[in-house]
Amino acid sequence: MLTGKTIILGVSSSIAAYKACEIVSRLKKLGADVWVVMTESATKLVAPLTFRTLSGNSVITDLFSEELAKLPVPHISLAKKASLMLIAPATANTIAKLVEGKADDPLTTIALAIKGPKLIAPAMNSAMWQNVATAKNIKKLKKLNWQILGPVEGKLACGDEDIGKMMEPAEIVVEVARWLGGSVGLKGRQILVTAGGTREAIDPVRYISNRSSGKMGYAIAIAAREQGAEVTLISAAKLPDPLDIKVVRVETADEMLKAVLKYYDEADVVVMAAAVADYKYQIPNNKLQTIPKSKIKKTKQGLVLSLVPTEDILKTIGKMKGRKDKVIVGFALETDNLIKNAKKKLIDKNLDFIVANQPATFDSDQIKFSIIDKSGKVADYPLQSKDQAARAILDLAACWCCP
Ligand code: CTP
Repeated sequence: MLTGKTIILGVSSSIAAYKACEIVSRLKKLGADVWVVMTESATKLVAPLTFRTLSGNSVITDLFSEELAKLPVPHISLAKKASLMLIAPATANTIAKLVEGKADDPLTTIALAIKGPKLIAPAMNSAMWQNVATAKNIKKLKKLNWQILGPVEGKLACGDEDIGKMMEPAEIVVEVARWLGGSVGLKGRQILVTAGGTREAIDPVRYISNRSSGKMGYAIAIAAREQGAEVTLISAAKLPDPLDIKVVRVETADEMLKAVLKYYDEADVVVMAAAVADYKYQIPNNKLQTIPKSKIKKTKQGLVLSLVPTEDILKTIGKMKGRKDKVIVGFALETDNLIKNAKKKLIDKNLDFIVANQPATFDSDQIKFSIIDKSGKVADYPLQSKDQAARAILDLAACWCCP
């Protein structure tokens, strides 16, 4: 997706510098030409040779080196070459220098000459991030057209659990791809999506179900197909088959479980957008639990139905998850304590991330949602079309499954 793009990656001296190695290898796998420029202190944390090996290009630590002598004016040549500059990690000192327009090392010199998109992923101790001086500098940096990625909350090098952690490399790469007019993409990936509300029969004419329309799952399946994925859609919804997508029709939670297990192994990404019934009717005196042939007749005594839990499909596949790059995405539909309950489901079901939403979503063409990832980071998304939401969800899934 990034073939033909040149990215200058500035690395300054935060302990997160080792994560810049993952950024380089992800960008390279997407086809980008990556040039790493390091501050002197960053070279004490990660050897330039590591970046040189990963990027296949000379690492810039000195603009007057023999290696760069073949370029006419090294810092200008490199800046002109760049489709985008990313600084990750960016320390408070580097940020301050960018604000002042200083050019006293190769990183800040090249940054000053960049005309294209400029992204920065700060990483530092929470006190340094919250310091008024840094806060002011970040405001100024935004005015200078720098896009600020993160930082996020998490365990910091000093042991504190607080804000200041660099955004995950996978997510940074998604932002880079977006700024270069594309997405990480799912070309050639196998995607398994479930959609709709399952129906649990009571008799030949009645069933227990829920209000899910299946529109969100269908939007995800269609968006994944558009990104070049091979899609299998396991549907309990009453919507027509989308073009070019393998659709497996199911009705009950048990049938959906069976279908998911059949396609699970080959899937790179599983998105459980279906509203699976949590209970099914326990048919009396029917060992095989087949749907009775006769309708339950009305009586004056009323009717008590005995319900038994269905198997939690997501929990089952979450337990099976072996491959590190397989991505499992769940949905959480909550009326109360949206984020708290969704976080609990994320952990209980061993998911990579969960999409938390509320009942207003039912049957609507729009959705307001939050995505919570494994690190506990919560990202809120405003009301938008389900097609737009599907693309955001897949962008994230793509970056997690891109090794
Ligand atoms: N899910 C599942 N199998 C079930 C029930 C739910 O795979 N038997 C999946 C849904 O597809 C969704 C996630 O689990 O991706 C959360 O579903 P949700 O209905 O929000 O929560 P539950 O786990 O059913 O818990 P509760 O109904 O108590 O909120």
